[in-house]
Amino acid sequence: MSQRQPPKVDGGKISRRDFLKLLAAAGTVMTFTPFVEWGKFLPNPRESSEERAKVVLPDGSQANVNTFKVNHAEAVVYPMSEDPVLNEEAFRTWQFIRLPAELGGEKNDASAFRMYSMVCLHLWCLWKYWPEEGRKRGECPCHGSMYDPLTGEAFAGPAALQAPPSNVLPSLDLEVDDEGNIWIKPPNWTPSGNGVVGYGRFLT
Ligand code: FES
Repeated sequence: MSQRQPPKVDGGKISRRDFLKLLAAAGTVMTFTPFVEWGKFLPNPRESSEERAKVVLPDGSQANVNTFKVNHAEAVVYPMSEDPVLNEEAFRTWQFIRLPAELGGEKNDASAFRMYSMVCLHLWCLWKYWPEEGRKRGECPCHGSMYDPLTGEAFAGPAALQAPPSNVLPSLDLEVDDEGNIWIKPPNWTPSGNGVVGYGRFLT
């Protein structure tokens, strides 16, 4: 059985012939590397719609103030793409929270709800809301950052030590129609507006 020969080295230098072979191999790899359009990876202003969008729950229904439980959260995709693969991107994943009663979650209007990017501001793991007594906060499983459900501000762990705007989660603005259906208002993807996913938001 013939064995593959390592590139010949001449006085510490690779030979011209082997250098050309390596160049050809690198070209082949580049040719077959899947092409990913970088701009498609993140939600960005180009995708922002002037129209409001439904808060679509995992069961496909639109969130409604009359049925969504107090002190409860679901993961929601925004902006929703027609490509199901893109909809699985962490950068499109938001935690839709109805606040606990003591923080105003029993009100029947948009003030009872919050919608924050689930990408932790520390190193981009996905955090989630824990409704249990004694918790009622967002927690990241990676290094323990904790987020205030009322504001999205990190109050413990490494994300809390980061300078603004990287200590406050991006947040989407919500509104409720006459039937109680909940909608996402068109966002402003800047740190002073709704924030930048994975980077943060200035608290106003
Ligand atoms: S990635 Fe969330 S605490 Fe480090």
